[in-house]
Amino acid sequence: MTDQHNVTPATDWWRDAVIYQVYPRSFADGNGDGMGDLAGIRSRLPYLRDLGVDAVWLSPFYASPQADGGYDVADYRAIDPMFGTLADAEAVIADAHDLGLRIIVDIVPNHCSDQHEWFRRAVAEGPGSVARERFHFRKGRGDNGELPPNDWESIFGGPAWTRLPDGEWYLHLFAPEQPDFNWEHPAVQDEFRSILRFWLDLGVDGFRVDVAHGLVKAAGLPDTGHGEQLKLLGHHVLPFFDQDGVHDVYRSWRTVLDEYEGDRIAVAEAWTPTAERTALYLRPDELHQAFNFHYLNTGWDAPDLRAVIDESLDAMRPVGAPATWVLSNHDVVRHRTRLGGSLDRARAAALLMLALPGSAYIYQGEELGLPEVTDLPDDVRQDPSFFRANGQDGLRDGCRVPLPWSGELPPYGFGDTGTWLPQPADWARLTVQAQTGDPDSTLELYRTALDLRRRHPGLGAGNTVEWLDAPDGVLAFRRPGGLVCTVNTTQAAVTLPEPPGRVLLSSRHLSAPSPLSTSSPLSTSSPLSTSRHQLNTAGDCVVAADTTVWWEE
Ligand code: NOJ
Repeated sequence: MTDQHNVTPATDWWRDAVIYQVYPRSFADGNGDGMGDLAGIRSRLPYLRDLGVDAVWLSPFYASPQADGGYDVADYRAIDPMFGTLADAEAVIADAHDLGLRIIVDIVPNHCSDQHEWFRRAVAEGPGSVARERFHFRKGRGDNGELPPNDWESIFGGPAWTRLPDGEWYLHLFAPEQPDFNWEHPAVQDEFRSILRFWLDLGVDGFRVDVAHGLVKAAGLPDTGHGEQLKLLGHHVLPFFDQDGVHDVYRSWRTVLDEYEGDRIAVAEAWTPTAERTALYLRPDELHQAFNFHYLNTGWDAPDLRAVIDESLDAMRPVGAPATWVLSNHDVVRHRTRLGGSLDRARAAALLMLALPGSAYIYQGEELGLPEVTDLPDDVRQDPSFFRANGQDGLRDGCRVPLPWSGELPPYGFGDTGTWLPQPADWARLTVQAQTGDPDSTLELYRTALDLRRRHPGLGAGNTVEWLDAPDGVLAFRRPGGLVCTVNTTQAAVTLPEPPGRVLLSSRHLSAPSPLSTSSPLSTSSPLSTSRHQLNTAGDCVVAADTTVWWEE
């Protein structure tokens, strides 16, 4: 087992951790082929240490035909040559630990690649073979079995079933190249416990569990009812998601995680109808965290934000799990664009997230204020959902454009040559190099916020917020240690009758607000650093539109 090196031995490190998501294809290219890789990640670990995050979650780098950006795994114990070797992965883990960073890897248990050895064997050995029992193979409906076995639809569009030349159909909730495992089969259960151990033995600190809510399907694979799905408390209940039986899987995984020293964790990607259903995955003998997609899906609206914050905290408290907060990831439109296109609002949203109790997830590039790339030509797109949905939906390439690190022109220091998706021509001012040392930059805002979060552990602690009175459209809450956060979600400057204290950090100038700048990639507004900031008002304090302020009472 790899030593944990400089990683602090503290238990429960994950309860208030800030975890940075690396999408390996798009983070940094170490070998000059235009595709991000493990060597690139390794070279940039000091950047992540300096940013001030606690842990790094790596999206899949396993052997894969890349039908879905690596979420189609052909071998769970091998690295895809495009990303490097197992030795490179071990080096990333070791270097990260030396720098005091923890490493979380993705695990993809709902489905594998159609090139996985088990599925190839299942195809080759034909109907009735034992090899087919590890997947969901069925005869079709209709006189000649020409219709899919049930009415389930793929998340990426089209039927969730594909027919083989021998007449049988197999289930794939995602692309046809991603056959679903049959989790009733003991061999599947054993294999994944073994895969967990393989990576735990290499020293990883945890797992992000892909489609954690999808592993177990309702007995008999019943129809969803052609859109007339069963409803529970007003929410659709799908026979392939959030089935109660899935919790047995995570109870058995928890015993494996707990065999290892050093607080190894698992975070669920579980899309459930309610925060209460999400909390079931986080009971003390199951997983540690789950992404808070209810928060991610909430608009920039004070009452809605307050409601989702309360609901999230209320749901997690009974199971003793920390709430988590996330604004962006590799599957959704970047929050700067999603929340309306203004960098000011994106910055305000980030400071709100980082003042909430629990753990927060940062998606690579949000610390640079990157917008979604919305004008990628169709012929460069790679997201399978784009093709399956006839371009109507599934625009996940726009948040996966390779990061700009330095220089004036693409590839902006991403690597020596091109990039697998084209970068915009106007990203020179958004590079890490351009923003480093500029107190007005979004990168320095994130660095300062993360530094303050370390120095004021009250910001991430606990499982409650104390709401304070505030004008309409403004959120105000107190955190332990005498810290107050105010968030002006309105389109106008708001006067706070009495400033709640000394400003620690602001996402934008407080008084004399500058006009909104949406034309330039970097806003003209700037945060107030602790050293530069003095409130020169006699009592009132004007907080600009779309501004979050951290105050020390
Ligand atoms: C969720 C992942 O985040 C997404 O990128 C992937 O397409 C699906 N799961 C299928 O694995």
